Amino acid sequence: QQGECTVDAAHMGADLERVLVTEDEIQAKLAELSQEIADEYAGKDVLLVGVLKGAVMVMADLMRALPITAPVDWMAVSSYGSGTKSSGVVRILKDLDTDISGKHVLIVEDIVDSGLTLSWIRSNLESRNPASVEICTLLRKPEAAKVEVDVKWVGFDIPNEFVVGYGLDYAEQYRGLRQVGTLAPHVYS
Ligand code: XMP
Ligand code: MG
Repeated sequence: QQGECTVDAAHMGADLERVLVTEDEIQAKLAELSQEIADEYAGKDVLLVGVLKGAVMVMADLMRALPITAPVDWMAVSSYGSGTKSSGVVRILKDLDTDISGKHVLIVEDIVDSGLTLSWIRSNLESRNPASVEICTLLRKPEAAKVEVDVKWVGFDIPNEFVVGYGLDYAEQYRGLRQVGTLAPHVYS
């Protein structure tokens, strides 16, 4: 059930082995974080930067939870290297549409795994003279960290296992799941 195959909604949930974060937990956490973020950026020129494709769900729900209005821009990057492991060598597939100089940038991410991708994105954006760069991520795997990334807002620390759902994919599938979980072994084989 990978590659060009499509997994239908009924099978999508069944393919999860274990739910790590439920839909309710995600929404409650985003409500909490959005308050803190709104307080931090009150009266400031803030730009939300989402990293495609995984961050689409977090961005959609976070921006709707935010009691302030803020423009949104997107970046798409790809890590060189094979498989599901990040190499830290990053290529920009789609750059921001916006000039961020003088702006307070909030990077919105789905997951910090090794931290290599995000630390590269952060220094790339910092080189463009923004007023500030902070990071908000829904998920973080503390045991997988290869570099320290200063993440101001973290939704959930999760174990070092491959997860899908809520924007996260396996072979481009499962991004539409409303919860985050690990995949059942039968999916891989
Ligand atoms: P790091 O922090 O290792 O992560 O540079 C780079 C990107 O890899 C993706 N990623 C995952 N995707 N399940 C996924 O579906 C996972 O468990 C997972 N861990 C990392 C994600 O796009 C992240 O930005
Ligand atoms: Mg991915």
